[in-house]
Amino acid sequence: MSRRNRWLTILSLLAIAVLLMTACVPAGKKATNKLEMFSWWTAGGEADGLNAMYDIYKKAYPSVEIVNATVAGGAGTNAKAVLSTRITGGDPPDSFQLHAGLEVEKYDPAKYLQPLDSIYTAEGWDKVFPKDLISLLKYQDHFWGVPVNIHRANVMWYSKDVFDKNGLTPPTTWDEFFKVADALKAKGIVPLVIGTKEGWEAGHTFETILISVLGADGYKGLWTGKTQWTDPKVTQALETFKKVMTYVNTDYSALTWSDAAQYLVDGKGAMHIMGDWTDGWFTSKNFKGYGWAPVPGTKGIFDALSDSFAAAKGAKNQANLESWLKVAGSKAGQEAFNPKKGSICARTDCDPKLFNTYLQSAMQDWAKDAIVPSVVHGAAAVEKWATVYKDILTTFITKGDVKAAQDALQQACKDNGVCK
Ligand code: GAL
Repeated sequence: MSRRNRWLTILSLLAIAVLLMTACVPAGKKATNKLEMFSWWTAGGEADGLNAMYDIYKKAYPSVEIVNATVAGGAGTNAKAVLSTRITGGDPPDSFQLHAGLEVEKYDPAKYLQPLDSIYTAEGWDKVFPKDLISLLKYQDHFWGVPVNIHRANVMWYSKDVFDKNGLTPPTTWDEFFKVADALKAKGIVPLVIGTKEGWEAGHTFETILISVLGADGYKGLWTGKTQWTDPKVTQALETFKKVMTYVNTDYSALTWSDAAQYLVDGKGAMHIMGDWTDGWFTSKNFKGYGWAPVPGTKGIFDALSDSFAAAKGAKNQANLESWLKVAGSKAGQEAFNPKKGSICARTDCDPKLFNTYLQSAMQDWAKDAIVPSVVHGAAAVEKWATVYKDILTTFITKGDVKAAQDALQQACKDNGVCK
């Protein structure tokens, strides 16, 4: 073969190799030096907390560009739908927000998510996350998310100013609640503020009422079949909720949870039942005039949920994804994130001195209270049951039909194979 022909052969072989390599990289999977992280944290303390964790990541990995993919809407109302479409459509973000617990079932983890068992072992996470949380995180015997926090859902926030001016103390039972609420109503103050615009907030309030009426074990039993939804205590909880709704702001269906919390900031409302992301939100607004108490009848019970970050199978930026998960599970990452987010660390070794008085009280309660799983925030039931539950409660607050709501709740339990 002549010298020229030899060169031509080598060049053609090289061209064929390049063509073959290009064909082997699936479309949309071009390696980049990015990290796409998906959540519904767009504002207030939630965005501040996430940014604080990003700052830690950026310091350690300055060449990685973080793509902060967010879809606004409390409790992930809108984000979860977008996420599902992206996952099943083969275009998942590298990492995304996922509640610890049965919510993971929604994303068909064996098919679409990466099990994270080996990173748990390598980072020693099985030792720094509490046992209760570890068991909540395991689904089909694998870990699918790295928990960044613990939130409490059953908090009643109140305006200290309104309570002080009217010589009132925060109610600890529903009977006390109605007395306090009557006194406030008589003064022209909205006793309880609520916003139900996004369709999950009525369900959130009601799960805390269920806990107060049924107690920790009775409430937990609703999700395992030990307690039937036909129980007279469920009727009582619905009656209580119906009465509670006669003390709320009239514009509730047009407001989000944070719009409702604004009533407290403005001194126009007295109480608000919401998770402790409200603490982060108040902090971001520089509002200091709030107090807190367990939702009436729930002292000693901690209605818990945890945000974790999951890893998509076929993630475009695998190395960056792994380093991100390590930051999310680290002490430094969690100490930066949680004081701003209004949650406590999932880890047990964070420094309490970095947290405000409310969060320090939450840490103490988390260590001693009975822990129950939140349904609205992904812990207690699979997503399709939680969704039906939320819709029933949203209908209930407009119709007020106790029997129809209770029948529908029992039917939902049956449809999910838990009640007979
Ligand atoms: C929860 C989530 C919290 C907070 C809240 C309000 O589901 O776990 O971190 O975002 O919704 O949107």
